[in-house]
Amino acid sequence: MIAFLVRLAIAGAALYALGGIIAFVQSILFGSEHPPVGTAQLGFRGTGLVEVYNAREREALRVANAIPPSVPYAGDEGPKAGTVYENLRVLGDVGSGEFTRLMVNMTTWVSPGEGCAACHDLENFAADTLYTKVVARRMLEMVRHINSNWTAHVGETGVTCYTCHRGQLVPPNVWFENPGPLQAGGLARGPVGQNHPAPQVGTSALPHDPFTRFLARDDEIRVQSTAPMRRSDWLSIQDAEWTYALMMNFSQALGVNCDYCHNSRSFADWSQSPPQRVTAWHGIRMVRDLNANYLLPLGEVFPAHRLGPALGDPPKVNCATCHNGVFKPLFGVAMVEDFPELRGDGTK
Ligand code: HEC
Ligand code: HEC
Ligand code: HEC
Ligand code: HEC
Repeated sequence: MIAFLVRLAIAGAALYALGGIIAFVQSILFGSEHPPVGTAQLGFRGTGLVEVYNAREREALRVANAIPPSVPYAGDEGPKAGTVYENLRVLGDVGSGEFTRLMVNMTTWVSPGEGCAACHDLENFAADTLYTKVVARRMLEMVRHINSNWTAHVGETGVTCYTCHRGQLVPPNVWFENPGPLQAGGLARGPVGQNHPAPQVGTSALPHDPFTRFLARDDEIRVQSTAPMRRSDWLSIQDAEWTYALMMNFSQALGVNCDYCHNSRSFADWSQSPPQRVTAWHGIRMVRDLNANYLLPLGEVFPAHRLGPALGDPPKVNCATCHNGVFKPLFGVAMVEDFPELRGDGTK
């Protein structure tokens, strides 16, 4: 009997050890980042402002962000497009040769599969029959507006249609008002659809739609009140959760850690934050402007199958729409340099 018990104990110990070994091997294989992991120092020594990145993933991003080739700038000589064509409301001041080049490139950027027919009735290029042409005209105005009035964010790098569209009619990253998954009643019912891991906030269980409040409306992005218990600027714990949800999305959209824009010992303090936070601050205001003045009014133009689950809600822009997982869209290549007409006038 005793011999049996001893054998049982030995077998138990062996199993236990085996379990431990399996857990250890698992943690090495799956629990950590595969090499090669790199770091870049972003702030002063000792502040811990270090960006951790994976060289292999960064290489994959570089390939995905290579820009498509384009024919060289055609110059602004010759008659203006507005004198040659019938129905130009934005590009009338562009040279007609350059106008044609832009149409060809726009096709590469937005609709390489569908071609000119994505926006045009091929029997009559002047007609505005397709909604896509009406949207594209507004997009042309939006791109000019970004490149000439939002240099506080986009600098000299600027944007073209390709920054967001990446060869597709619908950009890979857009967002809708999100009522969240269907909820049970009672305690399981979170008023902001919380406790459902949401991919757009880093699969955390934070509020899953920080965009409507912060990027369509202009609610304050704050976790701390500046005055104790003053009703006008009182913030709840839930406001902090919304703020963190948005911040998780920023990190994801740009492929960076929080300390790309903050010194994590004091998130709120601007004097300790890297300059990128100021660029991001302007970016927030720019995104609100684009959504309020370009995308939301287009809600009437988009067909029903392009709208979101909320009544009449059109697709909108957030940080990922341009950034696509990179700290500077397309790693900072200034495609717009070759397209002066996208800066606001037809001259280089
Ligand atoms: C993504 C949408 C889009 C695509 C794709 C596109 N166009 Fe256009 N096109 C427009 C818009 C918008 C206008 C009007 C611009 C304005 O109002 O200044 C326009 C205007 C034109 C006009 C002027 C018509 C007139 O008489 O008023 C011509 C010609 C034209 N495009 C040719 C082409 C050709 C050729 C292609 C394919 C190589 C093409 N377009 C692809 C959006 C597009
Ligand atoms: C800041 C990002 C951004 C830029 C830059 C941009 N777009 Fe868009 N575009 C969007 C968003 C968001 C939508 C809405 C997506 C949808 O239609 O479902 C959209 C929709 C469109 C559509 C309608 C597609 C469809 O089938 O519903 C067309 C056409 C279009 N854009 C053309 C252009 C052209 C041409 C340019 C360059 C002059 C441009 N866009 C630049 C963000 C952008
Ligand atoms: C791309 C830049 C950027 C990244 C990345 C970023 N933030 Fe922010 N953060 C900002 C900006 C800009 C503000 C201020 C927004 C405003 O005032 O409109 C802010 C505000 C905050 C605030 C509110 C401070 C206050 O005044 O109450 C907190 C907290 C915060 N961030 C935490 C984080 C955390 C945690 C992360 C990582 C998950 C993060 N941030 C990632 C740019 C960034
Ligand atoms: C319309 C396209 C567009 C949108 C939308 C956009 N950005 Fe940017 N962003 C850019 C461009 C272009 C640059 C590069 C500017 C330059 O080279 O100086 C940039 C640069 C930045 C930088 C500076 C990076 C660096 O290393 O210097 C930060 C931070 C940033 N964006 C944050 C944001 C945040 C946060 C949002 C959303 C609230 C946002 N951006 C939305 C186009 C965009």
